[in-house]
Amino acid sequence: VGRELVCLDTVDSTNNEVKRRAVDQIPDGLAVVAGAQTGGRGRRGRSFVSPEGKGLYLSVLLRPEGTLETVSALTAWSAVAVCDAVEQLCGVRPGIKWPNDVILDGRKLCGILTELELEAETAALRYVVVGIGINLSQEAADFGPEVAPVAISLAQALGRAPRRAEMASALLDALDRLYADFPGAWQHWLERYRSDCLTVGRQVRLLRASGEEEAFAEAVDDDFALVVRRPDGTREHICSGEVSVRGL
Ligand code: BTN
Repeated sequence: VGRELVCLDTVDSTNNEVKRRAVDQIPDGLAVVAGAQTGGRGRRGRSFVSPEGKGLYLSVLLRPEGTLETVSALTAWSAVAVCDAVEQLCGVRPGIKWPNDVILDGRKLCGILTELELEAETAALRYVVVGIGINLSQEAADFGPEVAPVAISLAQALGRAPRRAEMASALLDALDRLYADFPGAWQHWLERYRSDCLTVGRQVRLLRASGEEEAFAEAVDDDFALVVRRPDGTREHICSGEVSVRGL
């Protein structure tokens, strides 16, 4: 991963740039890094504020074996890889808020947006784009008033931040190890994910179209779904994207 690396000053979104380049002869592992994004995208149609030189905005093109179901695992594994890279460079290990927000001091350090493209005829997986945004040196004003209370940068947390190139290199190495293992070492990465996951053992709020519901997060199952127990004792397996979950 990252042997072919495209570095841009500014782009709309590094995920978009990977998709524009993802024609069939492009091998997997292509990585795009940008200094700023003018249209950085987050999950659920949100935007991802991406000020110049303050964060690492990186996307990689992967062509994993497997089906649609394996894609959420790839995203979960990527969150573990982000924790590895941060720990290696900064000496602190963040945690993961299910399904894939990377959390430091109770606030969001990194978000991951995974998008996929299917073959028109067979609906087989053509490729996956994993887009990762890590906050390096933002201050509150860079996040804006809405995001600042829930976001954190490495500079805010530790008083210093690695350079973007250093973080990109550590992260690409971590993603490379992950991809070499995928999907064979599923159990190993599942255990690593479980040990980083902060959500299990807490009360969460399930946000559905029909309204909010309280539940207790009991476990992460073998497909990386969150197992929750409702107050009436019934259990539900929640797949990422199905409902949104509040609370760490
Ligand atoms: C989220 O937390 O909602 C996901 C945020 C993902 C942000 C990254 S930054 C690099 C890549 N390009 C994008 O437009 N989004 C992802």
